[in-house]
Amino acid sequence: MKVLVTGGTGYIGSHTVVELQEAGFDVVIADNLVNSDQEVVNSIGMITGIVPAFEKTDLSRPGQVKELFEKHPGLEAVIHFAALKAVGESVKMPLEYYRNNIFSLVNLLVTMKEFSVDKFVFSSSCTVYGQADTLPVREDSPLQEAESPYGNTKRIAEDILRDEVAAGDLRCISLRYFNPIGAHPSSLIGELPLGVPDNLVPYITQTAIGKRDKLKVFGNDYDTADGTPIRDYIHVVDLSRAHVHALRRLAGQRQKSPWEVFNIGTGKGYTVMEVIRSFEKVSGMELPFEITGRRQGDIEKVWADTAYANSELGWKAGKGLDEMMLSAWNWELALQKRNKQ
Ligand code: UD1
Repeated sequence: MKVLVTGGTGYIGSHTVVELQEAGFDVVIADNLVNSDQEVVNSIGMITGIVPAFEKTDLSRPGQVKELFEKHPGLEAVIHFAALKAVGESVKMPLEYYRNNIFSLVNLLVTMKEFSVDKFVFSSSCTVYGQADTLPVREDSPLQEAESPYGNTKRIAEDILRDEVAAGDLRCISLRYFNPIGAHPSSLIGELPLGVPDNLVPYITQTAIGKRDKLKVFGNDYDTADGTPIRDYIHVVDLSRAHVHALRRLAGQRQKSPWEVFNIGTGKGYTVMEVIRSFEKVSGMELPFEITGRRQGDIEKVWADTAYANSELGWKAGKGLDEMMLSAWNWELALQKRNKQ
């Protein structure tokens, strides 16, 4: 099966391309490279032995999307990762987030219809649940108003997809990711944050390697065991494998309904301090950190109920926190080595 992976040179996208190729899918990557490097295409080739087709495409321009489909006849499915994802930045430039994330989705769907491509996997986020009243969150837990334009683009995108599926021509699986961390065991691909990282784990590894002075822990007065917020951290390779299951489900017409949503997490939550301690354990280093005030928009705690994804998608995350932190650290070390060469 020939699959278009938008955002395929990004963090989750690149790991998913590897899993897809290893499962026998023929992959075409489209990416505008605003937050990734084309070199990733060769790194994928080094892991799998197959250099995927790559197109530099701005999906927010309808003409470019059409050209992409014309150049790659026979596409059967689309996995759509390409999106802007920095929460803070989205508050400063909401229109850029709506233009990029929403126009791209609509252009893709219009073009898919024109080319009779009807299978779609969407990168959604646990952010749509906000601070849930009941934990763990299930796929049918109520959604909350988004805390940021970024979060809102995920909610709006799910609404658009649900409506388009209801109109009859599309089958879609929306995967709500919890917090992906870690890197491929080869240390050939991983997270490549531009500038100062917003996310916890790249900030930890960059601090340990000496690029940052110390980690700021955003608040220890939450209602959790050690006062720091809880998230469901999931190894990016485990998360990527869920896409293979989703595509097979779509291809095998095994969906219970043409619009489906699955939580992609481990089902276990860890506090920020637990993540730091795990890092210290696997790296043998002491991490410099200070407790500061809360970060605006952060929720207190969230973790997934994964029962539905486990039973219906036939997928389960397997890697534990230490393994995730070790792979993130190995990736940071590999990056340092590469930059010194
Ligand atoms: C959020 C969204 C997620 C989105 C991601 C994009 C939720 C629940 N999650 O992730 O859907 O894809 O943004 O970036 O809305 N922390 C520190 N110091 C730091 C960085 C983070 O203490 O320097 C803490 C945060 O307060 C949080 C945890 O680490 O408790 C994880 O933060 P982060 O990695 O940024 O992810 P989320 O904010 O959970």
